Amino acid sequence: MEKKELLYEGKAKRVFATDKPDVLLVSYKDDATAFNGLKKGTISGKGAINNRVTNFMMSLLEKEGVPTHFIEELSDRETLVKKVSIVPLEVIIRNISAGSFAKRYGVEEGIVFAQPTIEFSYKNDDLGDPLINSYHALALGLATAEEIETIKSLAFKVNTFLKGFFKKLNIDLVDFKLEFGRLSDGTIVLADEISPDTCRFWDCDTHEKLDKDRFRRDLGGVEDAYQEIMKRILGE
Ligand code: TMP
Repeated sequence: MEKKELLYEGKAKRVFATDKPDVLLVSYKDDATAFNGLKKGTISGKGAINNRVTNFMMSLLEKEGVPTHFIEELSDRETLVKKVSIVPLEVIIRNISAGSFAKRYGVEEGIVFAQPTIEFSYKNDDLGDPLINSYHALALGLATAEEIETIKSLAFKVNTFLKGFFKKLNIDLVDFKLEFGRLSDGTIVLADEISPDTCRFWDCDTHEKLDKDRFRRDLGGVEDAYQEIMKRILGE
């Protein structure tokens, strides 16, 4: 597969065309941002870790019956994925209170929910990714009612699997963000990434944060946390 022109550069990844119209090449960067790009930095080694962790998780999820955009890992930082049109919704599942949930509702972090929650943000940097409900998403034509139902059910299925997977690694999966895309035939598939950038991981015993909150909140030990997650997942 030949790497062709740069199609899009995001905050954490670059997307290139290939010689196949329905295949894209994603290249992960070490760049890190937070608060809609207001805070900028570099997390050394992050690109390779997020690439390898994402691909490992996507492969496991495929086996669980969750369709994904993943095709093939080419190198430490580069992966071939199916071309999708991204549904402009960030899908957030929470098992434990943290982050914007704790802030919005004025509760402490660490409340374990009896059942997971789901929420959507409208993927729009100019607006700061505002919270949106499914009726608003329908009104804005961001997705159809059927697509929203598919996305919800896949997102909860991903949560059930990931929660159990991480528990065995002594990690509590606090919350995470997913993105979905449409293949050319309209099939909804899981896209984007599953990594310490997009999930909150707490050590079950020490409750130490092993994710991007170390960068967002200037807690130090950012690189070590990413390495630790890769070590627990991939054994290296
Ligand atoms: P939040 O508590 O800040 O809303 O974040 C919820 C989860 O979503 C958390 O695991 C981090 C992830 N997330 C992203 O992946 N991208 C984002 O832009 C934001 C705001 C959160």
